[in-house]
Amino acid sequence: MKGVILAGGLGTRLYPLTYATNKHLLPVFDKPMVFYPLQTLVRAGITEILLVIGGPHAGHFLRVIRNGHHLGIKHLEYAYQENEGGIADALSLAQDFSAGQNMAVILGDNTTDADISQDVSSFTKGALIFLKRVPDPGRYGVPVFSPSDRKILRLEEKPRHPKSPYAVTGLYLYDHQVFDIIRRLKPSGRGELEITDVNNSYLKKGQLQWRLLRGFWTDAGKFETLFKANSYWAKKSRI
Ligand code: G1P
Repeated sequence: MKGVILAGGLGTRLYPLTYATNKHLLPVFDKPMVFYPLQTLVRAGITEILLVIGGPHAGHFLRVIRNGHHLGIKHLEYAYQENEGGIADALSLAQDFSAGQNMAVILGDNTTDADISQDVSSFTKGALIFLKRVPDPGRYGVPVFSPSDRKILRLEEKPRHPKSPYAVTGLYLYDHQVFDIIRRLKPSGRGELEITDVNNSYLKKGQLQWRLLRGFWTDAGKFETLFKANSYWAKKSRI
């Protein structure tokens, strides 16, 4: 399986911190934020990675990540996302890199200590999403479950009235069909190609599986969650 880290965007929710550098290079305790998703992939045995970058400070990534060998990456490629077209738009840049293989995709601001190696090795087809119970699901993609069983009926992006207490984390496994799905997407109300629409397409085909993510998870893209991520990783290092 190949790995894709999506680290584009302007990080406007973290202004003024992101005036001078990219969000994914801000510190989370003792490391740049993007090291965490990167290590999640490397821990799962994924060492061929595409890093999708964007925005005015994209060049800063090279100084930090270089060829990635010091981080356990064997083969690293970069792609540059023009404009802020959303997560699914960024993922569309991975088509040549993936060369028809399955991919683990992770957002560059997601930090977790979960071990996904089992899911990576057993994944064959369709899509797999990872859910986490959160106190504020309305800030995320949220699953709506059928009342009778634990079947997902649909996923809603940042719903005003969340129908479950779960967030769809920014960690996904996809097969090659994802690129055809993205080509057929229409921009959402916020003008972006939404990853939630990609996952809903897999759901309609009956090819979306889900798991609960075991361990700590938070994104670090807002002041509250950046602080939460910093406190967790600092505590985990026993400082
Ligand atoms: C994005 C996705 C959302 C997902 C979240 C996870 O939200 O759109 O579905 O739950 O990442 O971090 P954003 O970070 O763009 O608000």
